[in-house]
Amino acid sequence: MTQNWWKEGIVYQIYPRSFKDTTGNGIGDLQGIIEQLDYIASLGVDIIWLNPIYDSPNDDNGYDIRNYQKIMSEFGTMQDFDVLLSEMKKRKLRLIMDLVVNHCSDEHRWFQESRSSRDNPYRDYFHWWPAEKGIPPKRWSYFDIEENAWQYDALTDAYYLHYFAVKQPDLKWENPKVRSEIYEMMHFWFKKGVDGFRMDVIPFISKDTKYPEIDAREPHEFITYYANGPKVHEYLNELNREVISKYDAFTVGEGPGIAIEQALDFVHEDRKEMDMFFHFELMSLDRAPGEVFKMREDSYTLAEFKKVFGDWDTAFAKAGWGSLFLANHDFPRAVSRWGNDAPEHWKNSATLLHTFLLTMRGTPYFYQGDEIGMTNVRFTDIEDYRDINTINRYTTIKNRGGDLDAFMESEQHAARENARTPMQWNTSKNAGFTTAKPWIRLNPDYKNGVNVVQQETEAYSVLSYFKKAVAMRKKYPALVYGNYNIIHPENEQVYAYTRTQGAERFLVLLNFCDDITHFSLPNDISYNRILKILSNDLILDDKIFKEFTLKPWQAIVYKLEN
Ligand code: GLC
Repeated sequence: MTQNWWKEGIVYQIYPRSFKDTTGNGIGDLQGIIEQLDYIASLGVDIIWLNPIYDSPNDDNGYDIRNYQKIMSEFGTMQDFDVLLSEMKKRKLRLIMDLVVNHCSDEHRWFQESRSSRDNPYRDYFHWWPAEKGIPPKRWSYFDIEENAWQYDALTDAYYLHYFAVKQPDLKWENPKVRSEIYEMMHFWFKKGVDGFRMDVIPFISKDTKYPEIDAREPHEFITYYANGPKVHEYLNELNREVISKYDAFTVGEGPGIAIEQALDFVHEDRKEMDMFFHFELMSLDRAPGEVFKMREDSYTLAEFKKVFGDWDTAFAKAGWGSLFLANHDFPRAVSRWGNDAPEHWKNSATLLHTFLLTMRGTPYFYQGDEIGMTNVRFTDIEDYRDINTINRYTTIKNRGGDLDAFMESEQHAARENARTPMQWNTSKNAGFTTAKPWIRLNPDYKNGVNVVQQETEAYSVLSYFKKAVAMRKKYPALVYGNYNIIHPENEQVYAYTRTQGAERFLVLLNFCDDITHFSLPNDISYNRILKILSNDLILDDKIFKEFTLKPWQAIVYKLEN
């Protein structure tokens, strides 16, 4: 397997709106990131992924771009960006930007032109369906109140396509001019010195422009259809050839709708498309069948969780490369979702999840605040929400006379804004995020130990553990590249596996439950010496290291020597 900086790197994702406000407008900004670069470097991470920072009317918090080569005024200026990049380089931090090119904002100049008349030179930059052809075939939309991806525009008596919000028209990749504008824009950022891109909903870019009727009833069926456009590989290959291949860069696609059987079509080295992508299988594990944002009623099992990771590890064992993540700006907080954020289990479960991501094969991605164990905010009032996704679905359910209480309850576990509350720096007002009124309410738990300053001073905090776990991963290449072998996959309490590369071998034991658990190693795992290299709790009696007693949510990493 070829070795690469982006395989060995650890990614830290920043949601700038919620990171650090320095101007006193209640919104995070680029200067806030610059101010905290020493903190980020102190974590030991290597790469920062920035959520969109481009000029935007913020219908979907920057995922609706008005100008790809301008910085959002709330975040600062291009000069701030240049300072950010050069300060990052001084600290040997790499930067990947968010590439949002399935769609842009309806306020983008291209769309303004396009909608102005049917014979405008930009008309074919977007997907239009003339009304004289009748109602266009059904397409489902993520954020549309009627879940209808076709919006009628009276000015030219036609419908335009928007897989996301009505203010996010889909760009028409079938038009070579669109593609070359996008490539030029990417060169602009690469010339500034960025190191790559996270590619927003990238499998959706290719459409069948005959817009046939499709056989899809529920969201997942539409998503699968959207991700399998006829020319998606052709476009990704061209984008790689025209842009990415010219730089020492890497790309990670957001991969809704990519099935595991298709994984290597996107990331096999020989195909020259992208380097890795975020699959959605884990993110669907606790969702109701066919639903995108609603939680399922029973809970998932640990065996199911293990299977997702095992299957995807196998998919990339010989070619390609995987990404590892438990949370991001679109999903609830990792510790609340995959751990247990009740006071007695919060610390161990947050650190267990860190141990897990940092001992699996693939590039680990951490979302801001995970390093201090930030938890779901669980808003109960619709007024607290800012997210178009929550607000519009609320309206949809209301219009249809649906069960709003059930929706509000589900959002406490499912809402994207669980992860978007401001970063918790200290115990001062607004957790040190802003001196003004924050754009969204904070999670009050910053007063109870979930903040950076307090955890920096405590030797056994979630943050201190995170740094140790990062340092461990950096020290042992076997934790990056080594083979993964699961032990007792059916065990419902303990997730145990080895990672092996040459003579270097590790044993990882993770007690994914609220109780003390006993675990026996099978006889075929033999060694002469066993050394503990990391644990998030005191180690209880181990019987000659064949039988282990693990505390609730305890994580231990042993090094095995022959
Ligand atoms: C991706 C982004 C999400 C955004 C959507 C539309 O899923 O991660 O935040 O709303 O694309 O751009």
